[in-house]
Amino acid sequence: MNIKKIIAKKRDCLKLEKSEVDYFIAELVAGKIPDYQITAMLMAIYINGMEPKELSHFTSAMATSGSVLDLHAIQRIKVDKHSTGGVGDKTTLIVAPMVAAAGACVAKLSGKGLAHTGGTLDKLSVFPGFRTDLSLLEFESVVSKTGLVISGQTDELVPADKILYSLRDATSTVTSLPLIASSIMSKKIAGGADAILLDVKVGSGASTRSKDQAYTLANTMIRIGKSLNRRTHAILSSMDQPLGYTVGNALEVSEAIDTLMGNGPKDVLSLSLQVGSIMLEMAGICTDRQEAIELLDTQIKTGAAMEKWAEMIEAQGGDASLLAQPEQLRRAPHQSDLKAAETGFVSRMDARVIGEAAMLAGAGRKEKNDQIDLQAGVILHKKISDPVVAGETVFTILSSDPKKLHFAATHLQTAIAVSEEPIQPPVLVIDEIF
Ligand code: URA
Repeated sequence: MNIKKIIAKKRDCLKLEKSEVDYFIAELVAGKIPDYQITAMLMAIYINGMEPKELSHFTSAMATSGSVLDLHAIQRIKVDKHSTGGVGDKTTLIVAPMVAAAGACVAKLSGKGLAHTGGTLDKLSVFPGFRTDLSLLEFESVVSKTGLVISGQTDELVPADKILYSLRDATSTVTSLPLIASSIMSKKIAGGADAILLDVKVGSGASTRSKDQAYTLANTMIRIGKSLNRRTHAILSSMDQPLGYTVGNALEVSEAIDTLMGNGPKDVLSLSLQVGSIMLEMAGICTDRQEAIELLDTQIKTGAAMEKWAEMIEAQGGDASLLAQPEQLRRAPHQSDLKAAETGFVSRMDARVIGEAAMLAGAGRKEKNDQIDLQAGVILHKKISDPVVAGETVFTILSSDPKKLHFAATHLQTAIAVSEEPIQPPVLVIDEIF
């Protein structure tokens, strides 16, 4: 087989055979393809796309390009969720313990935040000692013991994605739909998931800003999952404004704790219950949505979900005592309030701008290896459709660095708009796709 011929086929819009895709990925991981040929292939995929069957072969070859987690010893269905990236999206912190407490097995590989979006691993690192770098054996051991594990991608899993992603970043091919879909799904499959729920975000803070783009991404990933014998469902959820009232690592953990204590914001609870109930159905624990929601509600009311979260934190080497002191997570050396300039109704709470402001305050990374400030972030005091009076506080910004606080505050001024007329809040869950 010849790499040049494979690239030429893709350049000419011809469909690659399984053997060609397998060869390309195997040679890629073996370090036998120079970067100029890999990037030529990436650009050909970016321009010409991939047929469903070809994409399924490509994803499968990526998923098996390194180690694959073998969780067969756990008899239950392993269910995972994936969000395509949002602002203030702390649902994994709520859903994973709730669903595991209800009897499902949740083995989740998560990522760190980049640019304006947050990452679950950063949020969990507020618990002193918590390890997000479990080896595959440790990962398997924690999930066997507790039914719940959340850790980072290891170098052994999907090495093809690591190579391709770094070159996508350098060649403006990150936004290619087949490359995004195969990147996400290969990691879910290598992570041992039998069932995968995708939360595809739509709106200003999402990578898919339009509903059309989000539907296409969701349907592409569902098709890949099903072709590889994984139960795969998706929801489309709004990311026109941040989820809940907090953006930033420690702040979001405190809001997740509030939610599991029964005092969380309505939108956070509602999305968590919706996502969690679908996961319970997919895991075969419940047969109907109402039964699943009631079971999840019981995990909150009895404290079982909080106990499960604490069990996971401890199993991964962390100190779970912060779960009992969420107020400790809302502190930072410097804080400043931003006031509304007009009276009326909030018509815009731009998720992207707020995410960027949180990043400028120190909560996120511009570059992959940037250090983050766990305390930094933004508290929202208003959401879209809320009445507001000129002079009222709309945002509180937190940071350990007064200069960063200033940059964040300046950036945030464009995040809000106020209208004279009342407006409707955005619909949170736009659609469910099976
Ligand atoms: N998340 C991934 O893992 N890969 C992408 O390409 C985009 C989002």
